Amino acid sequence: MEELQLRQMLILATAVAMVAAAALASDKLQTLPGCTSTCGGIEIPYPFGVGNSSTQPQQPCFLEPNFDLVCNNSKLNWGDFIISSINVTAHQMDVTFYVARFCNDSENDNNPWMSTAETFTVSRTENKFGTIGCNSLGFLQSTYDNNTYGTGCATQCNGTDATIIDDGSCSGIGCCHVDIPPRMRNISISAATYKPDDGWHGCSYSFVAKRNSYNFSITHLKIFQYLELPLVLDWTVGERNCSGFERSRVEYACMNNSDCNDADTDIGYRCMCKPGYQGNPYVGCTGVAATIVILFVGATSLYLIYQKRKLNKLREKYFKQNGGSILLQQLSTRENSSRMIQIFTEEQLKKATNNFDESLIIGSGGFGTVFKGFLENNSIVAIKKSKIVDESQKEQFINEVVILSQINHRNVVKLLGCCLEREVPLLVYEFVENGTVYDFLHTQKKVNSETWKTRLRIAAEAAGALSYLHSAASMPIIHRDVKTANILLDNTYTAKVSDFGASRLVPLDQTEIATMVQGTFGYLDPEYLLTSQLTEKSDVFSFGVVLVELLTGEKPHSFGRAEEKRSLSNHFLSCLKEDHMFDVLQFGMVNEENEKEIIEVAILAARCLRLKGEERPSMKEVASKLDAIRQMEKRPWINRDQNLEETQYLLDESSSSIYERGEDSSSHQNTSYDIIRDRIPFALDNGR
Ligand SMILES: *[C@@H]1O[C@H](CO)[C@@H](O)[C@H](O)[C@H]1NC(C)=O
Ligand SMILES: *[C@@H]1O[C@H](CO)[C@@H](O)[C@H](O)[C@H]1NC(C)=O
Ligand SMILES: *[C@@H]1O[C@H](CO)[C@@H](O)[C@H](O)[C@H]1NC(C)=O
Ligand SMILES: *[C@@H]1O[C@H](CO)[C@@H](O)[C@H](O)[C@H]1NC(C)=O
Ligand SMILES: *[C@@H]1O[C@H](CO)[C@@H](O)[C@H](O)[C@H]1NC(C)=O
Ligand SMILES: *[C@@H]1O[C@H](CO)[C@@H](O)[C@H](O)[C@H]1NC(C)=O
Ligand SMILES: *[C@@H]1O[C@H](CO)[C@@H](O)[C@H](O)[C@H]1NC(C)=O
Ligand SMILES: *[C@@H]1O[C@H](CO)[C@@H](O)[C@H](O)[C@H]1NC(C)=O
Ligand SMILES: *[C@@H]1O[C@H](CO)[C@@H](O)[C@H](O)[C@H]1NC(C)=O
Ligand SMILES: *[C@@H]1O[C@H](CO)[C@@H](O)[C@H](O)[C@H]1NC(C)=O
Repeated sequence: MEELQLRQMLILATAVAMVAAAALASDKLQTLPGCTSTCGGIEIPYPFGVGNSSTQPQQPCFLEPNFDLVCNNSKLNWGDFIISSINVTAHQMDVTFYVARFCNDSENDNNPWMSTAETFTVSRTENKFGTIGCNSLGFLQSTYDNNTYGTGCATQCNGTDATIIDDGSCSGIGCCHVDIPPRMRNISISAATYKPDDGWHGCSYSFVAKRNSYNFSITHLKIFQYLELPLVLDWTVGERNCSGFERSRVEYACMNNSDCNDADTDIGYRCMCKPGYQGNPYVGCTGVAATIVILFVGATSLYLIYQKRKLNKLREKYFKQNGGSILLQQLSTRENSSRMIQIFTEEQLKKATNNFDESLIIGSGGFGTVFKGFLENNSIVAIKKSKIVDESQKEQFINEVVILSQINHRNVVKLLGCCLEREVPLLVYEFVENGTVYDFLHTQKKVNSETWKTRLRIAAEAAGALSYLHSAASMPIIHRDVKTANILLDNTYTAKVSDFGASRLVPLDQTEIATMVQGTFGYLDPEYLLTSQLTEKSDVFSFGVVLVELLTGEKPHSFGRAEEKRSLSNHFLSCLKEDHMFDVLQFGMVNEENEKEIIEVAILAARCLRLKGEERPSMKEVASKLDAIRQMEKRPWINRDQNLEETQYLLDESSSSIYERGEDSSSHQNTSYDIIRDRIPFALDNGR
């Protein structure tokens, strides 16, 4: 991990350096457009140039003919000389020049000379004149204003006596050197021997060489291998000095942000960048500040890129960690891929929730937080952000995505997509406006018969959804956490079952699976609690509690109630047993028209709450029963004649059941009384 970061930092540093180099290079803009910029790796900055511009054939690449170079076989030629480097800031140019040689064979003796253009001078600061040999003389001569002048040095030694010669330093014995006189343009170099009979028969060598380009060694007295050595030339431009441009700027070579300088020049002038600027003054100087800005911007953007990459890496990691690849695989191999699950990016969801602004929280609990979000296409969504991050939660998350992506039911909340790029994965659902049934119930203080109609419809819809999950979906799904807080209501109070975090897919050949007991206190199936065997009937039990909640308007469990009333389902069942069912119903809801329906629902709830799962009706049965009760509501005359006393009487009765003898549940309208008679005492006996 650290190694990785180190490597990334290194990459970053390199990148910054490259940007810096690029900035500096672009800053210099060494050549004119269309001109050769390098030759054999040697840069060719303006005012030097090779021939004419390739884009403008009549435009020379050089400032003056003196700066016209030839690039041949990767060698940069300046007349007879080979250039090894050009420095515009220092106004210098390195060339190689011959070494003067004198031996007694006279055959290979050499006295080289050079005649440069007036604007080139042998650099006084960068070169030395040296002579190698014993009893040797070296001369450097030049002409200026038709006068010859020069300098030189001599050595005296006995070549056979090496002890006195200081090896490695040019001390005057065996090697001597002198400074270069000014204004040397037309130079000639010669070497000679004096006292030739003095026992020394070696050769003498003289040269002008760049500092540190030659280091004397005592072996050079016997074998001197250099034919050429580097030499530095100073150069200027033009023929006039700077004052010549005071009136006319024609042919003035100094470009933007540069000054003319003619100190130490007898012919021509130099262009220098103004203080605070850098670059090539013959092209135009730029502010150092601008370079710093470019560098800063470059470095900053690189840093941001680096950060972004890091973030992307992290996202990728989370995506993998969160089972993203498994999910994608699941989604892609799905046969029935009628519904697309969108994979959202973290950015999208951050934007949608105004960076998870607290004011957009629409729900929170043990599982985490739900935010209201606004997507870019103006649709409103609910974004669920889990609270705790542990492996089991991630499993749940993937579980929910997989389950919900397979479901398409109008009473099941629609999963639109998810985001796996975060450590805590996010789920995106359709937005269901009106909160949960739990809120709906427990904020309704005054109720009436209309309230009941709504509640009955909600019950029927939720039951339908659960029934669909249990049987109609491609693989049965046990919700495992059926409760009013998990049933949402939209703007028309249509129920939408939600929160499939704990749900399980049940393979078709299995009817029950062993799991960790999970659920919500007050709704939990006692049989499941005891055996850990999860079946569809666990959902039925929980739904029974939901029905009781709808009937009573009470919370399923409250420590605020008297002890015997704490568990709503038990309290409800005992009231039913003791003929006080109407005491437990929410006040104001029952009237003449709906009492029959309410009784039917109460009976159904009691059946759902049976201790033994196998004795509970299936969800399908519950759903069709509720549908039938709703039909009753629409055609009230069917049961209008049945009155309450009769029902209560029947509740107390105890006889054998038509239902138990195998009567189909679809005959609910005729069998309901029998069911009451038969089932309720049984449930109560076992529920204790
Ligand atoms: C280069 O340009 C000059 C005019 O500036 C022209 O006289 C010369 O012929 C050109 N050279 C080539 C090779 O085109
Ligand atoms: C280029 O250099 C080669 C030797 O390296 C020489 O023979 C040739 O004449 C040169 N060409 C030009 C155009 O100077
Ligand atoms: C040119 O010379 C200046 C001054 O001597 C020096 O600072 C600079 O590094 C040289 N540039 C190159 C490219 O050698
Ligand atoms: C040249 O050197 C040879 C030996 O290598 C010596 O015999 C001869 O005298 C020398 N001539 C002169 C003119 O120094
Ligand atoms: C140098 O001598 C030439 C003739 O040999 C003459 O024309 C020229 O003016 C002289 N230059 C100077 C600077 O004296
Ligand atoms: C040079 O040194 C050698 C050996 O040390 C000696 O024989 C010779 O005389 C010396 N020559 C001179 C001129 O000193
Ligand atoms: C350079 O010097 C040589 C002799 O050393 C002379 O023949 C030649 O005319 C001089 N050239 C110039 C341009 O001074
Ligand atoms: C000569 O010696 C100097 C100082 O020791 C060193 O910097 C330089 O590279 C040497 N030059 C060569 C050609 O070896
Ligand atoms: C500049 O050149 C002019 C002649 O062109 C001369 O009169 C003047 O003295 C020169 N100035 C310097 C500083 O060399
Ligand atoms: C030099 O400055 C002028 C205006 O002052 C501008 O038009 C031109 O582009 C500049 N040239 C360069 C190379 O910066």
